[in-house]
Amino acid sequence: MNYVIDKVLVAEEDIRRRVDELGKEITRDYAGMQPIAVCVLRGAIPFYADLIRRIDLPVTVDTITVSSYGSGTVSGKLKVITDMRTSVESRDVLVVDDIIDSGRTSVALIEMLKERGAKSVRTCALLDKPSRRVVDIKGDYVGFAIPDEFVVGYGLDWNEKFRNLPHVYTLKEEK
Ligand code: IMP
Ligand code: MG
Repeated sequence: MNYVIDKVLVAEEDIRRRVDELGKEITRDYAGMQPIAVCVLRGAIPFYADLIRRIDLPVTVDTITVSSYGSGTVSGKLKVITDMRTSVESRDVLVVDDIIDSGRTSVALIEMLKERGAKSVRTCALLDKPSRRVVDIKGDYVGFAIPDEFVVGYGLDWNEKFRNLPHVYTLKEEK
């Protein structure tokens, strides 16, 4: 089956406005702190790049590539494909992800960073599909809650395609 983009679900201008708000909120909440903002590759790349420029703090940057696997209602195991370079020990860590879907990736990532000695771990996701949750997690900072639909664009992919598009779109089958 091949898919093509269908409709714009979240427009670039709305993303920009929301990213501004999230940046302000994070700036307020982390006042006086020097958090590490971790970009979860690759889906969070555009969101991360926009967000960190709206955070008015001496934030440091790092990246991680993970994949989560597992089934049922238990949180999946996390496989670290490319790890961070900085130590999270005694640091305040802000995980920046594209979307919270089942929640498995976020839960496993938070657990791992805490095991590594992070002082605090919070998650910031551009999108959230609350109806798809199989593990108990609520993002600390969420851009937009969306219905149970597969979306692409602004970092999100289908088969590695569409990450470069400026808006978030739904998909449809190619006729
Ligand atoms: P999780 O199910 O919360 O662990 O989500 C894991 C990953 O699935 C996300 O970081 C995305 O990379 C991917 N994903 C979930 N829903 C979508 C979607 O609608 N479009 C594109 N990728 C998605
Ligand atoms: Mg993906």
